[in-house]
Amino acid sequence: RVAQSLRSGSRVAAPIAGALRNSFTVVQEATPRLNRCELYVPGTQAKIIPKAAKSAADVVVMDLEDSVAIGEKEVARKNVIQALKEVDFGNKTVAVRINGLYSHHMYRDVVDIIEQAGERCDVFIIPMVGVDKDVYMADALVSQVETAVGRKKKLGFGLIIEATMGMMNVHEIAAASKRNESLHFGVADYSASTKSRTTNIGGPNKLYGVLTDKDGDKPRDFVWGDPWHYAMSRIVVAARANGLRPVDGPFGDIADPDGYRAQCNRGAALGMEGKWAIHPSQVAIANEVFSPGEAEVTQARRVLEAMEKAQREGLGAVSLDGKLVDIASIKQAEAIVKKAEAIAA
Ligand code: GLV
Ligand code: MG
Repeated sequence: RVAQSLRSGSRVAAPIAGALRNSFTVVQEATPRLNRCELYVPGTQAKIIPKAAKSAADVVVMDLEDSVAIGEKEVARKNVIQALKEVDFGNKTVAVRINGLYSHHMYRDVVDIIEQAGERCDVFIIPMVGVDKDVYMADALVSQVETAVGRKKKLGFGLIIEATMGMMNVHEIAAASKRNESLHFGVADYSASTKSRTTNIGGPNKLYGVLTDKDGDKPRDFVWGDPWHYAMSRIVVAARANGLRPVDGPFGDIADPDGYRAQCNRGAALGMEGKWAIHPSQVAIANEVFSPGEAEVTQARRVLEAMEKAQREGLGAVSLDGKLVDIASIKQAEAIVKKAEAIAA
């Protein structure tokens, strides 16, 4: 995905000089999609799928993996194929979480969906990716079936990083296929894989923190830490370095909207593009948090105006409301404006 390219000519096209500054290696962005919230529906729940299609989630994921019991795999696959043919998903991104490469259900998911379900599916979410060759194998299989049926729209891949092996190899995995669009943090399986002590899927642990120093000059305080910070940051870096969207995974306590909102906020602060919803009540919260607010968009437009003016005057940096803005601020401001425009479209 990361393509080598000569930089000189392309710089001229930049709306503001400097906005496309990069390494000599230019990162190509994956197919752009809104990805603020991914609503998961078990493939067994045929009646719920049309409801999910009417929700406000940007992405609906019909699941054939862990929310489906082994004995239900065939019926879930049939439901999903029927939904792909019959349900009106509007302009949503439609995804299917297929079974992982560890299971013989995987090849059957790929073959049957591509052969029988038309072209409405946009993305396969692949669980338990451990090495780049997992993606290579899935790409080869999907390519064969797509070619055999003459499919016009190429399926994209969302890859779940949810075990220590995948976390180790995340950079190679992110670069492994042109189909790759997003990396997802599967925190539930990841906790199992690291043998960490989790109390609620994707939530904090009250024992994970520091007690401030006993020799300090202030009263001692226990400060909670975020046990997922490293894993999330690692995924954000690997995804963004390869032009993919990093997406935070599930939060298990559906009766705790405040906890979910807090997890959304810290994901957004780190650079995550969105978060999974495992219950419809989580959708509005993710949409709100992962949409740039009005004030943020106004400020981004002001930064762009200030930098345009600065560059007309031959300056590289200026002060806006007493704070430095420079060429590096342009990219961030442009990303905010672009996202707001995509949401409004
Ligand atoms: C998702 O699949 C997870 O394990 O969190
Ligand atoms: Mg999982």
